Amino acid sequence: MTFSSLHSGLRPLHRARDLMAVANLIELCFASTMDADGRLYLQQMRETAREAAAMDWAVSGLEQAAGVPLEGFVWEEDGRLVGNLTLIALRRMNRRVFFVANVAVHPDYRRHGIGRKLTQAAIDYTRAFGAWETWLQVRAENTPAVRLYESLGFATVAARSAWVSGLAQPRPLQPRALVSSRAAVDWPRQREWLRETYPDHLTWHLPLNIDSFQPSFLRDLMHTFDGSRPVHWSARMGSALLGLLTLEASRLSTDNLWLAAPAYNAVDAILTLVPHALQNLRSGRQVTLNFPAGQCESALQAVGLTLHQTLVWMKIVL
Ligand SMILES: CC(C)(COP(=O)(O)OP(=O)(O)OC[C@H]1O[C@@H](n2cnc3c(N)ncnc32)[C@H](O)[C@@H]1OP(=O)(O)O)[C@@H](O)C(=O)NCCC(=O)NCCS
Repeated sequence: MTFSSLHSGLRPLHRARDLMAVANLIELCFASTMDADGRLYLQQMRETAREAAAMDWAVSGLEQAAGVPLEGFVWEEDGRLVGNLTLIALRRMNRRVFFVANVAVHPDYRRHGIGRKLTQAAIDYTRAFGAWETWLQVRAENTPAVRLYESLGFATVAARSAWVSGLAQPRPLQPRALVSSRAAVDWPRQREWLRETYPDHLTWHLPLNIDSFQPSFLRDLMHTFDGSRPVHWSARMGSALLGLLTLEASRLSTDNLWLAAPAYNAVDAILTLVPHALQNLRSGRQVTLNFPAGQCESALQAVGLTLHQTLVWMKIVL
């Protein structure tokens, strides 16, 4: 009889020891869909892994002493890390919520129930923690993962598409309306329309703070100095306001566009405002527009944006 002392099964993530193996597993499992931000995230994870390994005993000691919260679960087979799930603790409406990320099982070990056990462990842990909700995002076409999450009680909240510039040429367009810098009087409608397109229950983990767009001399001045000032444009047909568009700098690989327009004007607002924004990008930068999936697709393609991905946002109320 052979005896192996190597661990098999589920256990909590050990930050100091597991991070490099987790990074390798994520790279293997997400290679085909990983974008520039994903690669940067992996690089940071590997740097942290190297630093953590250099001070291994200190990190483990600290974790025990300070009760640093758990950050995920892993699955091992004979000591080899073949499954991972990351947990990120956040707050929404002043209540504790969790976000599940990096659910990954090594291709050689799939369909053995590992993904299910990892996800169930996350649900049990966040429930025991007293969290309100647990959220995750999954690519719309990732049927195995969507089925897994649905079978454990996650429900779809929304599907959002990320449209990016720089990959396609815009078709020649006739300007339909007049574009100008946003006037302060446009702000109430901009806020109302932004809240319709980017509702509260989604913006809490989008890089968007609608109230920060309120016209304010002081804020504009501060943003001018750090170079991050968002630029807002309004589109008008005669005296009627069609919609507004904001171009906001980001530290990630692309800057952001945020469209504010009522549904009945969205196509005209896109056809008028997006080409204008694309002519005013920071040098060498591309932009991403986050938009409800399936809406205004022809207009978004016409202005030269390309569908990068559609993410389904799912949650389980605990
Ligand atoms: C999604 C993933 C984590 C599932 O891991 P797994 O260990 O193979 O999943 P399990 O064996 O626990 O399967 C649980 C359920 O998921 C669903 N499922 C898993 N793989 C499936 C597939 N290839 N086709 C259809 N359904 C699938 C089934 O409902 C399954 O239940 P069943 O076996 O009773 O039918 C794995 O396929 C993976 O790592 N994919 C690449 C990374 C990824 O896309 N992660 C999700 C990011 S949101």
